[in-house]
Amino acid sequence: MLITGSEILLKAHKEGYGVGAFNFVNFEMLNAIFIAANQANSPIIVQASEGAIKYMGIDMAVGMVHILSKRYPHIPVALHLDHGTSFQSCKNAIDAGFTSVMIDASHHPFNENLALTQEVVEYAHSKGVSVEAELGRLMGIEDNISVSEKDAVLINPDEAEEFVKTTKVDYLAPAIGTSHGAFKFKGEPKLDFERLQEVKRRTNIPLVLHGASAIPEYVREAFLASGGDLKGSKGVPFDFLKEAIKGGINKVNIDTDLRIAFIAQVRKVANADNTQFDLRKFFTPAMESVVQVMVERMGILGSAQKI
Ligand code: G3H
Ligand code: 13P
Ligand code: ZN
Repeated sequence: MLITGSEILLKAHKEGYGVGAFNFVNFEMLNAIFIAANQANSPIIVQASEGAIKYMGIDMAVGMVHILSKRYPHIPVALHLDHGTSFQSCKNAIDAGFTSVMIDASHHPFNENLALTQEVVEYAHSKGVSVEAELGRLMGIEDNISVSEKDAVLINPDEAEEFVKTTKVDYLAPAIGTSHGAFKFKGEPKLDFERLQEVKRRTNIPLVLHGASAIPEYVREAFLASGGDLKGSKGVPFDFLKEAIKGGINKVNIDTDLRIAFIAQVRKVANADNTQFDLRKFFTPAMESVVQVMVERMGILGSAQKI
């Protein structure tokens, strides 16, 4: 059942669990997300970046989600625009049938971020669509970072309170030390959980963790075994994900783990038989591997058995 992001996340906020927001760029990835949700009995958010929308075509992205949500009518699903960069981009997604959008103006000064978010919220809410915004910059924090450097990068709880009150945004992504991709931490993983708790206390809305891929050992191993290189890669440990959910995170963005798991299988098949050119021989094990990763993650986040 295709519903809004708020409908999924307000329940998670009240009950204290996280819902995976999984990125897709094609049928195989989207299909795997629904299969995993069905196996784990979990609500899901499926999200497409502007780049993914350009790749698939917005009508194809929305159409595939409609078909799969009809195939699995019991699964609560929201279709979300990931990192929308402009009002127009959010409007296009809303008009095409997305039920949730992110306006990412976090790299702009606070007041510009606030004004643009407010504009998107007004339009989105008039169409019954939910909105996510972001405060702070997504980047790792080192052990030896100074308090002032940390304050310059991570979310400011005072600003968060004012931002949420003024914009009426539905959920907020606080920068607390995660970053996108496979190389999140130079030294030991480190997130600012105290800051997260303070933001939750001051805003009392669902919060979003970007850059939440974990790169579990078996996923890294499969990629390496297939001949891939992931030197220096580090994800967010499962314990940190659990701690973040305790601190108020309800939407957990995952893309990198799925990409790594998928491509490891594609490369494995290619290595095993260089005469193979049946696409299904590559994509079937790739989908199975991604399903395994997601079912496990739904257990960690606490969304399994929440339908
Ligand atoms: O946060 C970004 C997502 O991982 C999507 O990335 O812009 O390469 O599609 P993309
Ligand atoms: P990862 O790169 O950690 O998977 O994060 C994805 C993300 O935040 C999408 O918005
Ligand atoms: Zn992100």
